[in-house]
Amino acid sequence: MPSPKSIYPHPDNVVDGRAIAVQIQRELAQRVAELRRRGVTPGLAFVRVGEDPASKVYVGRKEKACAELGVASETHIVPESTSESDLLALLAKLNADTRLHGILVQAPLPKHIRESVVFSTVLPSKDVDGFHPVNVGKLMLGDASGFRPCTPAGIMELLVRSAVPTDGAEVVVLGRGNIVGKPMAAMLCQKGKNANATVTICHSATRDIAAHCRRADILIAAMGVPKFVKSDMVKPGATVIDVGVNRVPDPGSRTGTKLVGDVDYAAVQPIAGRITPNPGGVGPMTIAMLMQNTVSAAGKTLN
Ligand code: GUN
Repeated sequence: MPSPKSIYPHPDNVVDGRAIAVQIQRELAQRVAELRRRGVTPGLAFVRVGEDPASKVYVGRKEKACAELGVASETHIVPESTSESDLLALLAKLNADTRLHGILVQAPLPKHIRESVVFSTVLPSKDVDGFHPVNVGKLMLGDASGFRPCTPAGIMELLVRSAVPTDGAEVVVLGRGNIVGKPMAAMLCQKGKNANATVTICHSATRDIAAHCRRADILIAAMGVPKFVKSDMVKPGATVIDVGVNRVPDPGSRTGTKLVGDVDYAAVQPIAGRITPNPGGVGPMTIAMLMQNTVSAAGKTLN
C-alpha cells in the first residue's frame, strides 16, 4: 500500500482525500486477506467503451487500486461502434461469471447506447457502482443492503472522518446528476447517524444560486462548471467539497490543457472551514468506495 502523499502544502483546513483513502484501503486489505484465506478472491470487471481519454485514466486508476489491494480485475475494452445489444451480451456473460463479484461499466457511453439500459442489465448483486434501479431504490428507502454510488459515498466518508457534523446542517448540493447530485442529497437527508441534514439541490434552473450557497454549512459542487464557486458564495467557516473535473485550455502547459474543479480553490480556501483539494480530495475516495463495494460484494457470497 503506498504511503499518503499530497502535492499540496496542506494548510490546516484542507481535507486530504488521498490520505483518508489510503487509510480505508489499509482497512480493506485486511478484509481481502481474510476473504482470500477463506477461498474467495474478490473479482471486479471493468468495461470501457471507446477511447475517451478521461475514461482511460479513471479505469487505469481503478485497476491499480485493485492490484494494490489483491482484488482480481479484468478490463474489457470494446470499440466505440459496439452496438447496445453486443454490450448487453458481454454483460450477460460477466453476470454469469462466478469469479466476478463486481462489474463496472465506465460512463459516459457513446450516444447510441442507452446508459439506463446498460446499468439495469448489471446484476444488482454485482452493481458495485450503485447505478441499478434496485440499488437506487434501496438508497432512497434507507435500506443499507444495497450498494451506494461511489462518489457520494466517498464524500459521506470524508465528512465523517474529518469530523464535519451533518446533523441539522444546511447542505447545498450543486448539480442533480444521477452519479453524484441526486444520490448525494438522498444520503445526506436520510434519517440517522452521520446524515440528518437539511438538503437543497441547485441546478441550471435555480434562481439566485449564490444566495442558496451562502446559507450552506456544507457546500458540495458537482455541476461541472470550472471554478463556478467563488469566495462571495461561501459562508466563512463552511465545508466546501469540490467534485468537479473540468478540462480547460492552458496555453502555458505542455498539453495545452489542465484540469480544474468546480470551486475557485485559491479564492475559497482562505475562508472555508474545511475544503477538499482538487485533485487529491474526492477522486481517491471514489476509488476507495469502489474497492469497499467490491469487497462487500465478495463477502456476501460467503453468507
Ligand atoms: N463516470 C464518472 N463517474 C463514474 C462512476 O462513479 N462510475 C462509472 N461507472 N462511471 C463514471
